[in-house]
Amino acid sequence: MKVPLFDVTRQYHEIRDEMLQAIDNVLNSGRFIMGPNVEAFEKEMSAYLGVKHAIGVANGSDALYIAVKALGISKGDYVITTAFSFFATASCITRNGATPIFVDIDPKTFNIDLDQVEEVLKSHPKKDKIKAIIPVHLFGRTVDLQRLEKIRNDFGVKIIEDCAQSVGSYWIYSNGEIKKSGSIGDLSTLSFFPTKNLGACGDGGMILTNDDNLADFCKIFRVHGARKKYFHEIEGINSRLDEIQAAILRVKLKYLEQYHEKRIKIARTYNGLFSSLKLDLLEIPQVHDDFRCIFHQYVVRVKDGHRESLKEYLSSKGVETAIYYPLGLHKQKCFSHFEFGSLQNTEKACEEVLALPIFPEITEPEIEYVVKCMDEYFKEAKKC
Ligand SMILES: Cc1ncc(COP(=O)(O)O)c(C=O)c1O
Repeated sequence: MKVPLFDVTRQYHEIRDEMLQAIDNVLNSGRFIMGPNVEAFEKEMSAYLGVKHAIGVANGSDALYIAVKALGISKGDYVITTAFSFFATASCITRNGATPIFVDIDPKTFNIDLDQVEEVLKSHPKKDKIKAIIPVHLFGRTVDLQRLEKIRNDFGVKIIEDCAQSVGSYWIYSNGEIKKSGSIGDLSTLSFFPTKNLGACGDGGMILTNDDNLADFCKIFRVHGARKKYFHEIEGINSRLDEIQAAILRVKLKYLEQYHEKRIKIARTYNGLFSSLKLDLLEIPQVHDDFRCIFHQYVVRVKDGHRESLKEYLSSKGVETAIYYPLGLHKQKCFSHFEFGSLQNTEKACEEVLALPIFPEITEPEIEYVVKCMDEYFKEAKKC
């Protein structure tokens, strides 16, 4: 049996007619850039996430870059973030001339450790220059939004939520209020890269904000800083979401809640099967009821140096896996001039994590096969 990490074509075949119709409508309209579908999709996303403004851009990396720019962050400023993320989480800071301060992760959640964030805000030598925090809701798991809001109030820093992997995840506040990731940031960002939970058939991204002035900045920055064509108020860039992608995303948005529920069910199925096997070299993610993780990835930890050989074994059995991420952002060659310190939990995660196949259309026999292959591997490993 072959089990892919992610299969975009299965989703396509389920909603093929609707998608083709949506594309055909765009082609017939002759409007390909920033037209009625982008406008409607922005409205639908702001309603879905509970945010006043949703601004479509070309990809999630641009969304982050523009968000940092919108806050006026530049040379001499510092931004706290996690080193256990995709490159764009940090390059949006450096591309704006500012310096990242990498904080370690909580080893249980893989998300930025908010105790350490507070510590940095209290005692870092450059604490007066820290302008913002960029938390990432990694693998679809929501960072504690209530605590993030408190940190913002206590320290007066801005928050940019990187929601590239978390569209539709939420946090339940102590008063019972539910807030979705992306709804509390001064600015928040999304990616519609094809493998994301809400994935386009190409690149796409979005900026979210409740602030009218920030929204205004982002809206003109994405079109070369021009409110009126050929009259440039600021030096912006070209970062537009196109009509075909918006039309496709509007179709998929209708099914997004179903897709999330399926992913959560798959994570529970994996967990049930792994728990019954009691594999001591494996640490599985928790499925919580008090907040929602949308399982963009189902990531396990493989202990005692077994990760690479397990990955190879699974590959030999037709099971595709991936490593997010093999090297922390603080150790990337292009950042070597910064001389960041070491981050123990991040480095350990880089050595141990393994993402197993998860996508809404994966079948039970496929999940069972993945678990069976892992069981076989660990039984063999024990004998050696
Ligand atoms: C956490 C995170 N941030 C930012 C991005 C950048 O998004 P894009 O690939 O759409 O530029 C990604 C995409 O992989 C991501 O996973």
